[in-house]
Amino acid sequence: MPLSLGFRLIRVLVFVLKPLERLNLSSPYGESCGPGGSVYMFATICKYMAGNSARFFFILSGEHPTLPLAELKAILQAYVIEYKIVGNFYKLVEVEADGTRLESIANRGGYLDEMGEEVLHTEDNLDSIKKEVEFTDLEPFLSSQDSFSIRMLRFGGVSKELSRVHLEGYLGKLLAEKTGAKVDLRSPKKPFRGILAGSLFHLGLIMHQRPKGSIHRRRPRKRAVFHPSTMPPKLARCLVNLSEVRDGETFLDPFCGVGGIAIEASLLGCDVVGIDALSRMVRSARRNLAHFGLKPYGLLRGDARNIPLRRVDAIATDPPYGTGASTLKSTTKNILASFLPQAKSILSPGGKVVFASPLGTGALDLAESQGFKVFDRHELYVHRSLTREILVLGAN
Ligand SMILES: C[S@@+](CC[C@H](N)C(=O)[O-])C[C@H]1O[C@@H](n2cnc3c(N)ncnc32)[C@H](O)[C@@H]1O
Repeated sequence: MPLSLGFRLIRVLVFVLKPLERLNLSSPYGESCGPGGSVYMFATICKYMAGNSARFFFILSGEHPTLPLAELKAILQAYVIEYKIVGNFYKLVEVEADGTRLESIANRGGYLDEMGEEVLHTEDNLDSIKKEVEFTDLEPFLSSQDSFSIRMLRFGGVSKELSRVHLEGYLGKLLAEKTGAKVDLRSPKKPFRGILAGSLFHLGLIMHQRPKGSIHRRRPRKRAVFHPSTMPPKLARCLVNLSEVRDGETFLDPFCGVGGIAIEASLLGCDVVGIDALSRMVRSARRNLAHFGLKPYGLLRGDARNIPLRRVDAIATDPPYGTGASTLKSTTKNILASFLPQAKSILSPGGKVVFASPLGTGALDLAESQGFKVFDRHELYVHRSLTREILVLGAN
């Protein structure tokens, strides 16, 4: 067979097989959805959806091995967004879902740095990348009127033979030649993200990025009142999200301290009630929420072992450990033993309670002995003498 005919036959085969790949009948990951995986670790939770879903990417914070992905799943669950996790390598999570719904939740995660729509993915070599760019219909993403930029990330130290800077220039040239769009690195209309992860190259169009400085502004030392027992904003936001609370729902922090968790729940649009046994803590929480222009539903002095409320939709909290915050002559374990039945009696059906406690407190046994369903558990190393255990519990 003449070489040119053979080449044309291969091109025809590629044109036939590529759309099949996009339908996910075959995948460059080596498998579709299911436990385990080849290069990629595949999520065991596969929510299959009908309709016109596309493939999106999330870039999670690498600050913890399990919390960021658990938070993302909890947000998707809370907003009843059908999704399928099709790839997860280090900080990159690839999701098939309805894009408009994903965009609406993209700013909620404490550990969620960026999200966008995937344009293409292919093997991590220049030849494959060039072919895939030539093959892909870029019209939905980039037109000749647009300006654009491409910034590369590499996760897990992979594809070392490809320089990020070289790839940015190489892709910029390919995209500009194909679409007529102009490169603008300062304020591009279309910011693209290139990612090297596993043995693949991904190109996506960024739809949401965490605003620069937004976390820094909420750090404990930047608030009106500082207290060493307070939680940093990303972790506090994550606990709120793990409770699967939605905006407009009632949220309780029964050990609110100076309001680290209450601030995050308020920013997410919840009706927040905070309780603390000490008046000065309640006053400080009030000042801290006001500092960010937030109006809680209520901040009151009270005892978490005797909660003066009938119903709340979700609870996330950090009880005292007896170090930074006083247990008021009790112990964390005893406080939890009295608080958990209270939580159970006031949570709405399906509501969740999320809390942190020092590893070794026995919180898991306590929760199970009180009939809670344990949905999730994480460990978070803080320093030599404190590792937090985070539990996500269902009351009914
Ligand atoms: C670890 S701090 C909470 C920090 C808070 N989540 C934040 O991010 O700012 C625990 C708080 O529980 C309060 N506390 C201790 N015993 C309590 C009880 N029985 N009922 C309610 N609050 C209590 C303490 O005064 C302390 O402010």
